[in-house]
Amino acid sequence: MDFIKLKVNVSSYDELVQLMMSCTKCKLYTTRRRVVPGEGPLDAKIMIIGEAPGEKEDEEGRPFVGAAGQLLTKLLNNVGIRRGDVYITNVVKCRPPNNRDPEPDEIEACKPYLVTQILMIKPRVIVCLGRHSAREVLTMAGYPEKAVSNISSIRGKVFNVRLGDVNVKVLPTYHPAAALYNPRLRSIIEDDLRKVRAILDEDKGGGDILSYL
Ligand code: URA
Ligand code: SF4
Repeated sequence: MDFIKLKVNVSSYDELVQLMMSCTKCKLYTTRRRVVPGEGPLDAKIMIIGEAPGEKEDEEGRPFVGAAGQLLTKLLNNVGIRRGDVYITNVVKCRPPNNRDPEPDEIEACKPYLVTQILMIKPRVIVCLGRHSAREVLTMAGYPEKAVSNISSIRGKVFNVRLGDVNVKVLPTYHPAAALYNPRLRSIIEDDLRKVRAILDEDKGGGDILSYL
């Protein structure tokens, strides 16, 4: 699968958002309340990719605004990353009924939006939250599915990949929703996010990361 070929033919980010807002390409459009395209600065250095909108996100049309989102915001703050400096989206932009896993046909139908977001934002680091996100992003980067399906064995590792014309470091970690039920995962996610900061520090050649972000 050629990453670039999946790019949606739009001339601006706003146009891309308009397409997502009116999308009927998979069955999730029949049950969603609001589409959740994603949010954040278009020149963000960090892109966070979750799985799918939940109930609160479906209500508000914004990513990670429920309990898992609040935990994510807190963990980011703990390592000195402001949520407002990060571009946040999901693998699928509409909520699966009863928060079930997104199905393969839904993920495929929605993929062009994610591809186009990555090509437009050109982040330095992509943080994949949870196994679905990690699997989708790393298979797009050419890894065999089998090699990237076990989140416990790939989390905290930095994958240097090329997605289209974007050279980016991909760092999978646990999903914050899992950490709501298993508090031991919180410090692991936090450690992984600390690595993200270190990468950006290095990018800048040391110095004060906060002024850079
Ligand atoms: N979980 C996700 O994966 N994404 C959200 O936007 C909210 C919860
Ligand atoms: Fe379209 Fe994606 Fe929503 Fe499916 S999940 S209707 S492909 S925006």
